[in-house]
Amino acid sequence: MLLDILRNRRSIRQFTNKQLSTEHIAQLKEVILRAPTSRGLNPWQFIFVTNPEILAKLAQAKAKGSTFIANSALAVVICADTTRSDVWTEDCAIAAICLQLAVTELGLGSCWSQIRLRSHDENSSAGKYVTNLLKLPSNIDVDCIIAIGYPAEEKGTYPTDELAWSHIKDIN
Ligand SMILES: Cc1cc2nc3c(=O)[nH]c(=O)nc-3n(C[C@H](O)[C@H](O)[C@H](O)COP(=O)(O)O)c2cc1C
Repeated sequence: MLLDILRNRRSIRQFTNKQLSTEHIAQLKEVILRAPTSRGLNPWQFIFVTNPEILAKLAQAKAKGSTFIANSALAVVICADTTRSDVWTEDCAIAAICLQLAVTELGLGSCWSQIRLRSHDENSSAGKYVTNLLKLPSNIDVDCIIAIGYPAEEKGTYPTDELAWSHIKDIN
């Protein structure tokens, strides 16, 4: 059930060395392409990286908050043609969470690394670093990277009574 997947999803930043099967990778590709987009424009592009050298370089996109990519089995770079849609960030975020929920269902773990609006160093953005590394054209901006692999850490579900219930208002 989707509710159980949502209850079990946590950010996993430690991964075992086990590689993903080609079947799992194919399923994740299908899932991400099923994500809805505004006006059905599909402005996104998804780069599936399993090459360890490229994973290690992606992990250096930011000083903090991306290092876990190096030990993942797969990193999905979620980017978009910004000229195709004014809401490409929303489209990318929806695709990212669809991917993360499918990852959870497959018994894998994942963590989001924010790239858009983040710095690589004092002089350059994380987005520029990734687009240079992957040789992406100038109309493509990177939203985030989802690192995926077999979990090497266990995280429990959040207790239901500890959720941010005060953030919900009822108007009846
Ligand atoms: C939009 C967004 C950006 C995030 N960026 C990062 C990031 O750059 N690095 C990181 O380690 N985790 C990142 N996370 C993961 C959050 O830190 C994590 O979801 C949050 O702490 C709650 O933990 P949980 O996912 O285990 O429930 C991001 C999550 C979201 C939704």
